[in-house]
Amino acid sequence: MNRTKNLYIVLIFSFITALGFSLYFYNHVQEYDEKIAKMKALPSLPQYHIALIGEEKDHDYWRLVGEGAKEAEVIYDTFVEYEGPKRSNPEEQLKLLDMAIQSNVDGIIVQALNENFKVLINEAENKGIPVVTIDTDAPDSMRETYIGTDNYLAGQLAGEALLEDTTGEVNVGVVTGSFQNKHHQLRVEGFKDVIKKEDRIKIVAIEESNILRVESEDKAYQLLNDHKNITAFYGTSSYDGIGIVAAAKSLDRLEDLYVIGFDTLDENIELLKNEELNVVIGQQPFQMGYDSIGIMLDIIKGKTVEDIYYTEVSILRKSDLTASNNKGGADD
Ligand code: BGC
Repeated sequence: MNRTKNLYIVLIFSFITALGFSLYFYNHVQEYDEKIAKMKALPSLPQYHIALIGEEKDHDYWRLVGEGAKEAEVIYDTFVEYEGPKRSNPEEQLKLLDMAIQSNVDGIIVQALNENFKVLINEAENKGIPVVTIDTDAPDSMRETYIGTDNYLAGQLAGEALLEDTTGEVNVGVVTGSFQNKHHQLRVEGFKDVIKKEDRIKIVAIEESNILRVESEDKAYQLLNDHKNITAFYGTSSYDGIGIVAAAKSLDRLEDLYVIGFDTLDENIELLKNEELNVVIGQQPFQMGYDSIGIMLDIIKGKTVEDIYYTEVSILRKSDLTASNNKGGADD
């Protein structure tokens, strides 16, 4: 009888122990499954790493290019590393380009400010890193494609506006972002080629602002003092119009001037509304940034792309302003 009792006790004890172990392992398996499910739900790391390098990281214009690219990031499973010097500095911009090449990113989108960019663009391409130029092209490099304004056309539009809106003799002072940089050269070239159609319009002097508003103001001030006959101004970079207006105001000469500025930044739109700027040439910085990512992904995936993607460039006068484009920034 005792033996049977002991057997029962052993059996019950074994049963309870087995049950305990089963529950213990069941819980572990459950926790493990939950962990796996959580990990699967985690957003994975983006598949592609793209470097975007512009002229001046925090410049109002470049901020819009960066914002456009960042908005496209999620759609294309991409991480966009938006970079640029703090102040316009082509040497530093070249270093950033070199760093992007050394870190073997999947693609590089870069503003090719001048001839020196060609060497590094070709180096990247030879290493198998596709390069797209943005805002300013390097057509004789190995770059895959260009996205941005037709800068020669932008200059022509500025010239046509001047022809349309003025009569009689016009003496123009030009303030350009840079003598060295390709896009500013094209903007001046396009302008010159249009105004030369009429003898009544002459350029009296050209100065450069280094895309700085203080320098635009200084140069416009100097031009107004040195050339009392100036009746019009053409500024080829974002802050040039602002500097020209400030200089003309301080000399009480704004009333008699016709002023063309560049880029639909809030301040330029304000000046247009107040009739202090007569015309603003509008580019599409947000669109450039946004589209550049899709194009880069097409290239990475081996699709054929066009040689150039021109974004829209437009002439804006006060009469063209509507509630929607008054917000400034990109005229999207
Ligand atoms: C040009 C950019 C430049 C920016 C700031 C824009 O008009 O397209 O290349 O960096 O102005 O001056």
